[in-house]
Amino acid sequence: MPNHIFINKRIKSFNKKIKVGSDKSISIRSVLLASQAVGTSKISNLLESEDVLNALKIIKKLGINYKKKRNFYYIEGFGLNGFNIKKKTTINAGNSGTLARLILGLLVKSKFVVKLTGDESLSKRDFSRVIKPLKLFGVNIKSKNNSLPIEITGTKFLRPITYDENIGSAQVKSCIILSALNTPGTTIINSKISRNHTELMLKSLNYPIKVKKKVKVDKIFINGLKQFKSFEYNIPGDISSASFFIVLTLLSKKSQIIIEGVNVNKSRIGIIQILNKMGANIKLKNKKLYKGEEVADIHVKSITKLNSINCPSKLNSSAIDEFLIIFLVAAKAYGISKFKDLGEMNKKESKRLDLAIKFLRLIGIKVERFNNDINIHGNPKIMLSKNFEIMNFLKDHRIFFLSCIAALTLGGKWKINDKKSANTSFPQFLKILKFLGANIN
Ligand code: S3P
Repeated sequence: MPNHIFINKRIKSFNKKIKVGSDKSISIRSVLLASQAVGTSKISNLLESEDVLNALKIIKKLGINYKKKRNFYYIEGFGLNGFNIKKKTTINAGNSGTLARLILGLLVKSKFVVKLTGDESLSKRDFSRVIKPLKLFGVNIKSKNNSLPIEITGTKFLRPITYDENIGSAQVKSCIILSALNTPGTTIINSKISRNHTELMLKSLNYPIKVKKKVKVDKIFINGLKQFKSFEYNIPGDISSASFFIVLTLLSKKSQIIIEGVNVNKSRIGIIQILNKMGANIKLKNKKLYKGEEVADIHVKSITKLNSINCPSKLNSSAIDEFLIIFLVAAKAYGISKFKDLGEMNKKESKRLDLAIKFLRLIGIKVERFNNDINIHGNPKIMLSKNFEIMNFLKDHRIFFLSCIAALTLGGKWKINDKKSANTSFPQFLKILKFLGANIN
């Protein structure tokens, strides 16, 4: 099977209801927390993408059994630090920054050395952001240049810490929260708000975690050394996966879509706020609350006139994985869109800010860059006819998805490499595009 696709035609108008893949952040967290519960947890609609399958492989390697029956995963935990290893063990987080950062938080008491490895992309990423707090807890960490492979050996008694998480990274915050389950009295000063799924999941387990909202910062208090029981969790759809279909619909002619059952947690819906500010009319209907998480159906209609945006950087963290596709909307909007302070994009599966600029220039859009700020000069009449080839050297799933949506909405003849990267987060992506009528070879 070739690992590339060709798209030579724009998508025709469509009017459909779809479901996207389950939320990756919540899927990984549910597997990791189930591995620390007492008893058998039952998880339905777990995302079966590579990042999540790697989470399952890792807990298995660390001695936790699971089985799948129909739509359910049953994970048998033995409580906090219930991992069962008898010697130095190597685990592999594949492409997943979330899995790599969070699993370190669960190894803070390991008696044996655990060596954490990852794929080429993950091995290029910076781990100093989690190594620093882990060392403050008293955990032993060995790594060259703060990158993978990392060897971690736990400590018997963790020092409770007070830590200012000022990057706005949910991965860092969650690594600290998971470590803090093993010690009494950790405080996280959350001076840049990030997605809060770990906090909500622990709260739904009645764990003593408190979030106090202050004027500028949130403060999170975790009173660790308490045990939680096994649980059930039904994973909602992923807004990051939905985002590609939201933009496909907006930029296609006379189309509409309903995306059912998507997690619309406030800390994740930056894309909807940004696109609505640009003139879209995206609606959230049938809202429900599930274990503290908001879930809704997303209704989108295509739009003929999009305005540029001066994007408030306070929305950055709630749209961090969606900027690639938001930039495509900016490329079609009237006027110059401005985005600021997007350095974090370059710390993802690939250097996404650099690649986004390259991509926009490739399709003929003028982009100005000032460090981590960019101005995109929109061209509402943009219509492509040339040949394009997208290489995707670091196999970044979101670069693959972006390229497909650009090809299906702007025209041109596209060869898009590394189709397999879709399996990282959204294996059903191409199938859903075909269901909407896309012509993909
Ligand atoms: C994630 C947090 C984000 C995001 C990533 C998933 C998570 O990373 O980019 O895809 O599940 O916690 P940062 O928190 O490091 O920004």
